[in-house]
Amino acid sequence: MSATDTAASYPEFESITTVTCIGAGTIGGGWAAYFLAQGFTVRVWDPAPDAAEKLSRLIDAAWPALAELDMVTGADRNAWTVHTDLAEAVAGTGFVQESAPEDLDLKRKLLASIDAVCDEHVVIGSSTSGYSMTEMAVDARHPERLVVGHPFNPPYLIPLVEVVGGESTDVTAIDWAAEFYTRIGKSVIRMAHEVPGFIANRLQEAQWREALHMIDQGEATVEQIDRSITDGPGLRWPFQGPMLTFHLAGGEGGMAHMLDHFGPSLKSPWTRLDAPELTQKLRDDVVAGCDIAAGEKTIPDLIATRDAGIIALRRLTAGLDAGQESIPRVTSADEGAGEPGSLGTYRTQVISDWIDYNGHMSEAFYVLVFGFATDQVMDQIGLDRAHREAHSTSLYTVESHIRYLDEVGLGAQLEVTPTLVSAGGKKLHLAYEMRVDGQLAATEEIIALHVDQTTGATAPFPNQVRERVERIRTGSPDWVGRQLK
Ligand SMILES: NC(=O)c1ccc[n+]([C@@H]2O[C@H](COP(=O)([O-])OP(=O)(O)OC[C@H]3O[C@@H](n4cnc5c(N)ncnc54)[C@H](O)[C@@H]3O)[C@@H](O)[C@H]2O)c1
Repeated sequence: MSATDTAASYPEFESITTVTCIGAGTIGGGWAAYFLAQGFTVRVWDPAPDAAEKLSRLIDAAWPALAELDMVTGADRNAWTVHTDLAEAVAGTGFVQESAPEDLDLKRKLLASIDAVCDEHVVIGSSTSGYSMTEMAVDARHPERLVVGHPFNPPYLIPLVEVVGGESTDVTAIDWAAEFYTRIGKSVIRMAHEVPGFIANRLQEAQWREALHMIDQGEATVEQIDRSITDGPGLRWPFQGPMLTFHLAGGEGGMAHMLDHFGPSLKSPWTRLDAPELTQKLRDDVVAGCDIAAGEKTIPDLIATRDAGIIALRRLTAGLDAGQESIPRVTSADEGAGEPGSLGTYRTQVISDWIDYNGHMSEAFYVLVFGFATDQVMDQIGLDRAHREAHSTSLYTVESHIRYLDEVGLGAQLEVTPTLVSAGGKKLHLAYEMRVDGQLAATEEIIALHVDQTTGATAPFPNQVRERVERIRTGSPDWVGRQLK
């Protein structure tokens, strides 16, 4: 870490290799798993005697999900340690995330203790669900670096983090925290003011209170409440939040019509909002309702269902935003270096669907990944989707030879480099190397023919494709720098 001398300077982001999680329950453990997947070494402090075992189970559960979406090359599932000494847990750290139980007195004492032993140039974020930093920071000597960084369960999959400081928090610490969370892939809402419950919890809480009232009054069951959201408005919320949802509810008139039309019903007694009395009966009714709704499914079963759903939705929403397919075939690609035959490098990551019962990527998916690389080669030589659809031609692989040289595990970052070995008037000979961390994992050679799909017969490459192939074959400078689609 390289902090400079002024009190308001915080670590340079690139220099941070270690972060600390204080409290490693549902949220702190989820943060620890996320930080590990982002390539950090994680130091943990949690007074529970079984903290290490619990954390290990939590990381095991989170790791496959992280490998699907949010894991950097070289992330090490085992790069964490649990410490019994708080000072040891924060020594040399670049950031601290506190996720201890939601108890104001405990948070005050704990934040003051962390603050007392942690380098004053390190920002300390709290996962609190609703306390303000102003009320939590009262006993700290350096409240200027204390910030709320409110995550959502599970923090290893839900991108949102609400960031807000207290009255004594330095604005540069809030900026730093917002930038840090953003750099590690979180979606940050940087709040200008402290509001109890922040934004999302206020909204969740309003619904939660009304749901409890409805159960208390016998107006709805646990199952009906859940289904009213999952089969109802919940389906719209991943794509448009409550405001744009109602903008569309106003039809062509949008939100203006919505407000003019339904404004009067805002005064209808539809919601109670004040929390109901949490009587023993209400508590037992809600718990029993959840047990019935869960049926045979255990908590780990429900977590697996939830995580698979979030992963699918995040892929879908990312794809919709980018106007792409929901599963990116090639996560990045770069150009050939201008060497004769060079076609650049294609990168993708091994997802859990590709793992077989041996715990490694199944051989069928080596073919799939080489196939993705061939798709990109087709784009590069001008046989892209637009051309194929306009001319009803395509490349058909007529021969392939694969060598499986190494096992490839979940989350592995694959680099595939195709080379043009030779080209004829309607034929390409391509060779591929697949590497993980620079180690050769597989090779493939294919012979592919250009086929006119209306006749089913081979056809000569169009002139522009032949010219492009020739430039690639000779490593002509015209080829280098061509933008991939
Ligand atoms: N659960 C959620 O959905 C959720 C979501 C967002 C934020 N949060 C917030 O995250 C924080 C943690 O909640 P959780 O759900 O992970 O709770 P949890 O009960 O699952 O975990 C709390 C952990 O803190 C440890 N702990 C107990 N005393 C401690 C102390 N003095 N110092 C450090 N650690 C201590 C416990 O051993 C436990 O491992 C709370 O502030 C909570 O409001 C929770």
